[in-house]
Amino acid sequence: MKNFYFYSPTEILFGKRTEEETGRLAKKWGATKVLIVYGGGSVVRSGLLERVENNLEAEGIEFEELGGVKPNPRLSLAREGVKKAIDFGADFVLALGGGSAIDTAKGIALGIANPDTDIWEFWNGKEVKKSAPVGVILTISAAGSETSDSAVLTDETTLKKKGLSTDFNRPKFAIMNPELTYSLPKYQIACGVVDIMMHTLERYFSPVKGNHMTDEIAEGLLRNMIVYGPKGYANPVDYEAMSEIMWAGSLSHNNLTGLGRSRQFPVHNMGHEFSANYDAAHGASLSALWGTWALYVYKFDVSRFAHYAKAVWQIEETDPEKAALRGIDKTVEFFSSLDMPVTIGQLLESGPVDEKELETYADNVTNFDKQPLGTFLPLTRADVLAIYRSANI
Ligand code: NZQ
Ligand code: ZN
Repeated sequence: MKNFYFYSPTEILFGKRTEEETGRLAKKWGATKVLIVYGGGSVVRSGLLERVENNLEAEGIEFEELGGVKPNPRLSLAREGVKKAIDFGADFVLALGGGSAIDTAKGIALGIANPDTDIWEFWNGKEVKKSAPVGVILTISAAGSETSDSAVLTDETTLKKKGLSTDFNRPKFAIMNPELTYSLPKYQIACGVVDIMMHTLERYFSPVKGNHMTDEIAEGLLRNMIVYGPKGYANPVDYEAMSEIMWAGSLSHNNLTGLGRSRQFPVHNMGHEFSANYDAAHGASLSALWGTWALYVYKFDVSRFAHYAKAVWQIEETDPEKAALRGIDKTVEFFSSLDMPVTIGQLLESGPVDEKELETYADNVTNFDKQPLGTFLPLTRADVLAIYRSANI
């Protein structure tokens, strides 16, 4: 087995009515003044915000609110949140929502702990040495930010969407009640299913061999999503399905499914360009590109793709090349069955984009061809452009 590092310290409280424990948990992790961060209003409409505030009050915890986080969360709001948190004297940030609210909360927490640094400096390479504590009440299963070490923000002035990975970003606790996801629009459920699968798929296709346990966990998680993803999509109030999806979302991105592998997220990086420039939903940006990425790289390690086809899709085909291709097809068909886009033309309302734009995106994700993208098959600028072109229909 290859060496690995695993650190997933987030305390998880999973199940019905667990949000009633928010005050107790926040107190346990040292909260006295909490900044509550949320999105465009779903938690107001569902009554969750009010219930949580009552709960904090009952524990004697003061709070302020920062609402209005948009999907593909913006740096400017995180900066505003830092100011608000510092003025209020917040010692804890509580996110209600999904990746966007959580990542904004993580950004604010960095700002609280490092008041003399503009937070974007951390996204630009400055070493993180401390952050303030963050707690999460999850309302959408997708990004896995509730247990991940990442925070992804977009600088809307430069249209750069960037992730920052550091263990200081790991939330102290995550409250996960699948019932809180019942109000999700179907499109968001499907985006979440794709994203959850992609966090494991991006880790799975790595040049590092070995760590059979990691493969078994990854393949089990993917099979589980193939069963329960469509059930949740068909019936968003199916508790069992929404539970399976929710738990998979956390396990898929706390790194459990990638132990002993090289870390690389090429499809994510290529997709972020469409989120930054067109505000495309994250999961949809991934389904739009994975198939063409896979078709471009599979020849580099046909046996890995053939193994994937058998272990995840039960494809009994002895010819490795055919098996590999069928596994890719099955995955793309699965995304389509959830009404997810599988081309750029399907992703964007405006349809396929100009060649010039693709060139800019290829420059961005390879740093002008100075930094290969990914490790399974390190992609040059020309490779990335070829993948973008194939998907641009
Ligand atoms: O803003 P509100 O009104 O809450 O509506 C949200 C939003 O419109 C809605 N929603 C969430 N829970 C709901 C609900 N609507 C009704 N009922 C509910 N229970 O869903 C929409 C999407 O929310 P968002 O938080 O953006 O979703 P998601 O969790 O998919 O997060 C996406 C963001 O996370 C980043 C993505 O790039 C994207 O910016 N990611 C973060 C990662 C991380 N931190 O580890 C890893 C991922 O790969 C990803 O990059
Ligand atoms: Zn993702």
